[in-house]
Amino acid sequence: MCGIVGYIGPREAYPIVVKGLERLEYRGYDSAGIVLYDGKNAQLCKTKGKVADLKAKAENENITKGNIGLGHTRWATHGVPNDVNAHPHYSNSGDLVIIHNGIIENYGSIKTALEKRGYTFQSDTDTEVLVNLIEYIKNKEEVKLGKAVQIALNQVIGAYAIAVFDRTKPDEIVAAKLGSPLAIGIGEDEFFIASDASPFIEFTNNAIYLEDEQMAIIKLGRDVKIREIKNDKPVAPFVHELQLNLEQIEKNGYDHFMLKEIHEQPEAIKDTYRGRLRINEGIIKMAGIEDNLEKILKAKRIIIVACGTSWHAGLVAEYIFEDLVRIPVEVEYASEFRYRNPVITSEDVVIAISQSGETADTLAAIKLAKQHGAFVFGVCNVVGSSIARESHAGAYTHAGPEIGVASTKAFTTQITVLTLIALKLAQSKGMISKTDFHKYLAEMEAIPAKVEESLKVDDHIKYISSVYKDSPNFLYLGRGYNFPVALEGALKLKEISYIHAEGYPAAEMKHGPIALIDEQMPVVVIATKKGHYEKVVSNIQEIKSRKGKIIGIVTKGDTEVKSMADYVIEVPETIEGLTPLLTTIPLQLLSYHIAVMRGCNVDQPRNLAKSVTVE
Ligand code: G6P
Repeated sequence: MCGIVGYIGPREAYPIVVKGLERLEYRGYDSAGIVLYDGKNAQLCKTKGKVADLKAKAENENITKGNIGLGHTRWATHGVPNDVNAHPHYSNSGDLVIIHNGIIENYGSIKTALEKRGYTFQSDTDTEVLVNLIEYIKNKEEVKLGKAVQIALNQVIGAYAIAVFDRTKPDEIVAAKLGSPLAIGIGEDEFFIASDASPFIEFTNNAIYLEDEQMAIIKLGRDVKIREIKNDKPVAPFVHELQLNLEQIEKNGYDHFMLKEIHEQPEAIKDTYRGRLRINEGIIKMAGIEDNLEKILKAKRIIIVACGTSWHAGLVAEYIFEDLVRIPVEVEYASEFRYRNPVITSEDVVIAISQSGETADTLAAIKLAKQHGAFVFGVCNVVGSSIARESHAGAYTHAGPEIGVASTKAFTTQITVLTLIALKLAQSKGMISKTDFHKYLAEMEAIPAKVEESLKVDDHIKYISSVYKDSPNFLYLGRGYNFPVALEGALKLKEISYIHAEGYPAAEMKHGPIALIDEQMPVVVIATKKGHYEKVVSNIQEIKSRKGKIIGIVTKGDTEVKSMADYVIEVPETIEGLTPLLTTIPLQLLSYHIAVMRGCNVDQPRNLAKSVTVE
């Protein structure tokens, strides 16, 4: 969590750093800060609140000048969000200043040792401890900043992406990474540092992504030197050419990123299957699967590890894989899997699903799986992310940047790519007839237009939202492929509108949640024609007879559920395995409109962050 931005070059750093922080706010937004060096003085401004609050404060205090700048947007781990705990943090002498994304786990013992040597601390943060450790080493060993950072980082346990500046030697910034992402933009005589490339995309297409346990010494007007932190060896930098463009990271007329990303789904799904789904040739082309086909098909078991919405996509994949490929699948919360001594063997294939590719628990889960000899296949959206790099093979979702904290297009594109994988494996294993395979491919190709159609009933969904926006609780029910969709619908609502919502398998309702049903309780029931329709209809009757309010997600033209429900939202017909790609859409819109009507901050819901790089 947390976003960091740095600039060193001939331009004014303030607008670059502040704009960059705005783009990184998805990573945390409880406090923010900036430090600027104008050739003589370093000026610091920090505040509780969002980047907009920082901007107002900095401009009011006239802290806007300087060609070197570091900025930070925070998601609190150590110490409450307030002005003092906000980054950047100075060292005791005031010479060094740091920004940090991550956690220093052994900061307590380091702090005690430094206190014994006379160091004092203003904040409750682990970061202030780190900058003082660097200062202590720099003075004691009489070494340059880069060397002091290297020695210090070899003493800390935890995760970090840091940038450090020394006002007594103001021609360089030292950056380092372990566990948290860090990109360095390479411009002409200027350099940018950021948690991802979005802050510098309009200035350069060239970026170096630091690997874990690497540090960079970035010299004003000169170059970037990369070294390994453990053994201080130099590393030749690899410069990536970025594919991002500005349009992808701006709202383009939409009120919120979430709404934009919901509407991007038809294109995003197409981008996911483009080049892979080849109807005319009757094949699916996926290099990551083809190169490892034998190993994957021989798997005794597939274990899916993920968190949050990606975990829900994993649950959908369980249905698809077991249905089509007949390999047993287990879906695990990465955070539980990594700590419960799981049984993993070299005959297991582990699929890690992650939009960001940086989720700490998912990353740790795949490292554990690798230690036990399992083959790890990553499904990520962010190209070059840690999980993508740590996996043996993988497939990108190609959804484009997802900025809204509530995941939308990442979910549907994950399902798309996982379906393609399942189909490819089923075909290779001879588990699916030519006709069914072709039918699936044709239906997959038709999905973007059907998503588009599902988006057209937005006004109707808006109306339903206005009816139920003040309900304190919601229940979401679904069966089969649509049970995970019910979980995802409930998650979306609680994330952004703070309404308590639960997702349940429809038939399980009678083992508990039915006790909650009364005339106040809206129940969203996914009741599409394909997928246990009659059974779900019976569940709807059970709700009806207890006076619950029913919002049915139904197949276009349905009359039976319509006659029982208070409201229905139609989605086009498709084959059962692909229904989640359509039934998800109205649930995303429902949560979006309810949150907007309740005055919630849709793109930056309280307490959450997009990229969870702490465990
Ligand atoms: C956070 C985000 C969720 C996301 C989850 C997993 O909680 O707010 O939207 O589903 O992390 O993230 P990942 O990047 O691994 O998919």
